[in-house]
Amino acid sequence: MASERRAVGESRATTKGVPVAALGLTKRFGTGSAEVIALDSVDLSIEAGEVVALMGPSGSGKSTLLHLIGAMDTPSAGSIRVGDVEVGALRGAEAARYRRSVGFVFQGFHLLAALSALDNVLAPLIPLREAREREEDATSLLDLVGLADRQRALPSELSGGEQQRVAVARALVNEPDLILADEPTGNLDSVNGTAVIELLLSLRAARGTTLVLATHDSALAERCDRVVRLTDGKVVA
Ligand SMILES: Nc1ncnc2c1ncn2[C@@H]1O[C@H](COP(=O)(O)OP(=O)(O)OP(=O)(O)O)[C@@H](O)[C@H]1O
Ligand SMILES: [Mg+2]
Repeated sequence: MASERRAVGESRATTKGVPVAALGLTKRFGTGSAEVIALDSVDLSIEAGEVVALMGPSGSGKSTLLHLIGAMDTPSAGSIRVGDVEVGALRGAEAARYRRSVGFVFQGFHLLAALSALDNVLAPLIPLREAREREEDATSLLDLVGLADRQRALPSELSGGEQQRVAVARALVNEPDLILADEPTGNLDSVNGTAVIELLLSLRAARGTTLVLATHDSALAERCDRVVRLTDGKVVA
């Protein structure tokens, strides 16, 4: 990571985080004897600008909850609101537009293999036909995550930690009010992990961005305002 990172948003317009509220939020996969209840009537309220760690064993529903908040999937029952938006009711173009307003750092990067680091950061903008105009912003985000000199590299030419940092830069390019990060430090050593934590926390400091992070990393969880624990799809604390 670059040693001199400016706070994200320092030279940008101030935005404000959005609140997130789940009520009776339920997600089932499969049917009959194969049915899995991934989320079981979850009630959760996250304030605008709050930084929340979702923790819990593998399979407890952390990724599922992030996917529902991010409109990557739809609830089986219950409500998920982000600001004024009833996210679970969004379909098609509305859902796509909403997704572009959210910064998502996926578990396992999801970088586009054929695109350079720079073009991966720009990828969320391509539907908006703004991408080329924003190349300077994408370059400064890559600088921010310490990859200024690897802009033209393909994901296959980057280490796991470097790919994770491209994924973080990509999540920031739309200047989102909400960032959802699924194990953002899961593939990083402690130095790069700490740098990613600092970067994400600097967003809240600079812009009041709401952050919801799924993690097994207690060092990351300690830096958050609050830990929400999931077990078997239920919030336990
Ligand atoms: N697309 C799917 N189809 C069927 N079952 C699924 C699907 N996605 C998740 N599940 C199941 O839902 C439950 C919750 O999964 P989820 O991925 O949310 O867990 P997690 O807490 O993120 O786990 P991990 O820490 O391993 O990432 C698990 O039992 C999982 O097998
Ligand atoms: Mg997961």
